[in-house]
This record gives sequence, C-alpha cells and structure tokens, in this order.
Amino acid sequence: MARTVTVELAERSYDIRIGSGLPASQMAATVPAPHVLIVTDRNVDTLYGDRTEAALRKAGATISRAVVPAGEETKSEGWVFKLYEKAVAAGLDRTALIAALGGGVVGDLAGFVAATYLRGIRYVQIPTTLLAMVDSSVGGKTGINLPAGKNLVGAFHQPSEVLVDLDTLRTLSRREYVCGLAEVVKYGVIADAALFSTLESNTEALLARDPALLTDIVARCCEVKAEVVSKDEREGGLRAILNFGHTLAHALENQLGYGRLLHGEAVAVGMVFAARVSVAQCGFPADEAGRVSRLLEALGLPASVRTLPDLGASAEGLAWRPLRQAMTTDKKVRGATPRFVLAERLGTVVFGRQVPEDVLAAEWVKMGG
Ligand SMILES: NC(=O)c1ccc[n+]([C@@H]2O[C@H](COP(=O)([O-])OP(=O)(O)OC[C@H]3O[C@@H](n4cnc5c(N)ncnc54)[C@H](O)[C@@H]3O)[C@@H](O)[C@H]2O)c1
Repeated sequence: MARTVTVELAERSYDIRIGSGLPASQMAATVPAPHVLIVTDRNVDTLYGDRTEAALRKAGATISRAVVPAGEETKSEGWVFKLYEKAVAAGLDRTALIAALGGGVVGDLAGFVAATYLRGIRYVQIPTTLLAMVDSSVGGKTGINLPAGKNLVGAFHQPSEVLVDLDTLRTLSRREYVCGLAEVVKYGVIADAALFSTLESNTEALLARDPALLTDIVARCCEVKAEVVSKDEREGGLRAILNFGHTLAHALENQLGYGRLLHGEAVAVGMVFAARVSVAQCGFPADEAGRVSRLLEALGLPASVRTLPDLGASAEGLAWRPLRQAMTTDKKVRGATPRFVLAERLGTVVFGRQVPEDVLAAEWVKMGG
C-alpha cells in the first residue's frame, strides 16, 4: 500500500509518495510540466531510464534525458556546466521540470542544477537507493564537491515532489542497500525508539527487502526527516541531529579517501562511537549503546575498527591523532572544536555538544582504533 508523507514548509510544502511499482506518470500528474529533463546516471539509466521516460511521455510531457557517469566524482562543477548546456540545447524554460532519477549523487547534482539554472526551476526527486529514499532526496540540500572537499558548493532548493518506488531497491547491490540501513538505524536512535525496536525484531525481513516492511520503515524515516526539516529548513539548530554519527564518519571518509569506505559504513562506525561517548557524557544507558552496535552488526554493518572492510595500508589513518586532525581541518568547521550529537536515551538526542579530548580518544581506542 502506498503512503504519503508531507514536508510542511508553507508555500514550499511537498509530498513524498512511497510505494511499490509507483509509475513516474503519477508524478507527472501532480507536478505537470510541458518539458521534463530526466537526469540520471549510467547504471540507473540502463535499469529504469526507458521506463521512466515512457511514463512521463504518456503523461504528455516532452522529454529530454541527460545521462551522467555513476559515482561521487560526477558531483562536480564540470558536470553542472554540461547539464546547463544540455538544458539550453533542449530549450528548457522556466516552466520546465528536472527529474532526478537515481541515488544521492544524481539527486544532489540535478537538484543543484535546478536551483541555479534560470535562477531556479522546479525539480522532482525519484530516488533509487535506500540512502536517497530516506535521506538525500528529502530536505532540499543540493550541491557538488570541490577538489578541496565534499559538498562545499550548494543551495537549499526544495523539490516539488519525491516519488519513491521501492521496487527499484531490488537491483541495488547488497553493500549499497546495507549502507542505506545505517541511515535508517540513525532515525531510530535520534527520534523513535519504537522504530529502533522494529528494526531489531525484523533484521531478516529488512535484509530480504520485504516490501511491506520497507513501506512502513521508509515512510517513518521520511516522517522524521520531514518534521526536522519543517522546523529547521536551513540547519540553524535542530537539523544538526540528522548528523548523529557523522562527525567521526566524515573524518573517517576524509582519512581513508572517498570510495574505500562507503558513507553508510563510516556512519555506522560513527554512530557506535557517538553512542559510547554518550554513555560517558550524557547518561546514555550502556545497554542501549550495546543495542546500537548489535543492530548494526546484525545488518552487516561495521561497528568497530576491527570489522571495517579490508583497508590495507590506509588503516594508518585510523589512529586517533590523524582522525582528530581531520575533524578540525574539515573545510566547513575549520579550526573549530568538533561538536557532537549525543544520545540521552534511544529516540532522544542533544546536539552541538563539545566533548573532552581524553574521552574521545579513550572511546576510539576501546573500539580498536
Ligand atoms: N542532500 C542531502 O541531504 C544528502 C544526504 C545524504 C547524502 N547525500 C549525498 O548522497 C550521495 C550518496 O548517495 P548514494 O549513496 O545514493 O550513492 P550513489 O548515488 O552514488 O548511488 C550508489 C550506486 O548505486 C547505483 N544505483 C542507484 N540506484 C540503483 C538501483 N536501484 N539499482 C542498482 N544500482 C543503483 C548508482 O549508479 C551508484 O553506482 C553523496 O554524494 C552524499 O553527499 C546528500
């Protein structure tokens, strides 16, 4: 059964529609546009490009399609300009719509093009990875990377609609799917202890990508994200709770080089670290911290340095000193003391917390760092 979650943002409110086998033509019906530019990557294009184009064409739109290479490197200035050129050549005007069909890379890139082309046109998100369904397609953060760091250029630009077809998850690799589950676990920890318990009781069905279970879980994650974004669209405060586990995760990704460790794997280790620091600093019960690491492990995610994928020589970057250094040289918080989102109970977190250096170092060493 399909579910709808609304992101309440006054005149910029929009629906997230979640179901199995949702045709893209449904989207065209609610977000009519005479001309749609589908932006997708090569993998997703092969799997879903023709089907999406046919559905949108049936709904009466003129369709153009831009296919970009898969992978993080595509979130670049070069591809932004290639997409502008494609938009001009296709004759896209201000009534046109961009449809971002793919994972977070395509969503962030196409969203940024939509935010800036002709000073901003509408776009819809059609996420095809679990991470994009529960996280990147919702909330309006768009952007690209610079050689100096990830997501350093971007804009807040809310989509007109998000259309989640859970059937597309069937073709996603297990590693990418499980990475999306790390973000799902995050929502349980930051906002919903009942969701966390549901995940614990259903790990097998989750790993089997059970559509009914996924409908409920993806909808619940989107509800949590929608509520947070509605209260704090531009990350003035509360939206920071979505970064639970990410302070360490960004440092790990930075140290190891993007691509060695996937984002969800880094977030899993970062969440276990944040949970342990929460026990030391916030009265987070130790048994609840244990549940966080056991759930991540049951889902096949790393929960300590020992269970990280084989990283070869780059494992040296995992010592505390270089990791801590990477937190401070992060371009967005240069020189600042790192802040953490910490848990008080499962489902309740606080944000913006500074933590004594010795506590951080000690917990990392206990995790095998
Ligand atoms: N804007 C935000 O709020 C936000 C939040 C979190 C992450 N992000 C960004 O999201 C990006 C990561 O997104 P991602 O994890 O979706 O990675 P991704 O977009 O690179 O997709 C992962 C891989 O899966 C393939 N793929 C996508 N859907 C598929 C499907 N249904 N079947 C088979 N293969 C499929 C892609 O071609 C790609 O090779 C990062 O750039 C990150 O910065 C943005």
